[in-house]
Amino acid sequence: MSETAKHLRKPLSFVRRSNRLKPSYQRAWDAALGQELLDVPTGERDTSVAEGFQIDWEKEYGRTAPLIVEIGSGSGEAVAHAAASNPDADFLAIEVYRPGAAQLAARVRREGLSNVRIACLDAVEVLDKLLPSGSVSELWVFFPDPWHKKKHTKRRLIQPPFVQRAARVIAPTGVWRLATDWSDYAVQMREVIGAAEEFWNPHAGQRVGEQSPLTQVRLGDLDAASLGKEARPLPLAEALDAEGGWAPRFAARVETDFERKALQAGRRIFDLTFLRRP
Ligand SMILES: C[S@@+](CC[C@H](N)C(=O)[O-])C[C@H]1O[C@@H](n2cnc3c(N)ncnc32)[C@H](O)[C@@H]1O
Repeated sequence: MSETAKHLRKPLSFVRRSNRLKPSYQRAWDAALGQELLDVPTGERDTSVAEGFQIDWEKEYGRTAPLIVEIGSGSGEAVAHAAASNPDADFLAIEVYRPGAAQLAARVRREGLSNVRIACLDAVEVLDKLLPSGSVSELWVFFPDPWHKKKHTKRRLIQPPFVQRAARVIAPTGVWRLATDWSDYAVQMREVIGAAEEFWNPHAGQRVGEQSPLTQVRLGDLDAASLGKEARPLPLAEALDAEGGWAPRFAARVETDFERKALQAGRRIFDLTFLRRP
């Protein structure tokens, strides 16, 4: 890999804290490894993919079907639910957190879902090294780690270099769906993906003004309030989001524990959808 490519991968969007598996997850991991859980030789880190390693996806799934990829699937609630209700599509869950990947592996087994594979790896590595150009019909990134402190925002996944990676793997006319509970990350997503010529926003101009979740957040300074900080609400004229562009909630996105906690803390949810230009 070139020095430039290496540079583009830093800093990482995750910090691996506990990687230890409790015995039941270890058993699920061992049973699924090489089957639902992809057995990938790793490279410089235990989340990177060895140079030159490739996967024949048709062979892997035993068929040709639209591929839906979820990055940061957590314990896999959304992807498992979607895979069960959409057996005609293949799903790839990418999650660096081993207990989350193990939990999903156990669920996939329990529910007999033959259309799910799990990569317990850095999504950047999977996109760059394992997914051919135009191979993904939908890419989902729901609640990526927010890195909401100013000194940490450089760790956010959705930045221009990542948008280019997504543009390479998403098929022409394919879909990129995102969700976040942090308003400034939502604005960042709207800006950086909106600025890429490869994508267009089918909801551009929708949910503006008082209909916009961004306006609602600004009116109550809800993100600060959710952290227990002193809220500094903006007056309506300054709070109004004149741009909008927020998607309606994606129907197949089930409410995860993560989203539930965000709502309990008083934050708003932003859904975004972008289409890959042909
Ligand atoms: C805030 S959680 C959200 C989980 C899930 N999408 C949900 O809605 O409940 C973000 C997840 O992204 C994972 N993650 C962060 N960066 C990643 C990367 N580069 N590759 C794969 N997973 C990543 C984290 O380990 C974490 O589980």
